[in-house]
Amino acid sequence: MKIVITYGTFDLLHVGHIRLLRRAKQSGDKLIVGLSTDDFNRLKHKSSFFSYEQRKEILEAVEYVDKVIPENNWEQKVDDIKKFNVDIFVMGDDWEGEFDFLKEFCQVVYLPRTEGVSSSQIKETIYTDGGK
Ligand code: CTP
Repeated sequence: MKIVITYGTFDLLHVGHIRLLRRAKQSGDKLIVGLSTDDFNRLKHKSSFFSYEQRKEILEAVEYVDKVIPENNWEQKVDDIKKFNVDIFVMGDDWEGEFDFLKEFCQVVYLPRTEGVSSSQIKETIYTDGGK
């Protein structure tokens, strides 16, 4: 049984998220998502359209996702990896190299990001031209 973990905000769930989650799940047997809480997003100077509870509910409905846990800070990853016996840590390649320090605890994989879509871009489009 291979356990995979990934982290993110996953606001306004889009095809880039789905592809990342599908490939993450395919690299093992069970996928855990560390979902950034609203407080953690504030700390990162990020804000989401949907609340943590809404984003969690949406992610839990995705067939590739087995468990959603809160991501409260930058430091919890090592503890999560140990606690859930994680074999593979997966992130999109916009984070390439950033989490190499986790290699002493599990495999670290960066997956290619889907071009041309992001939560920020969706928000920007909707707010600036009403989505037209
Ligand atoms: N991701 C991806 N392809 C995209 C957008 C995101 O593979 N087009 C991946 C990221 O690399 C990350 C995960 O999805 O591993 C969650 O990313 P998140 O930052 O929540 O999504 P973004 O759409 O990039 O959000 P933002 O625009 O706010 O940065």
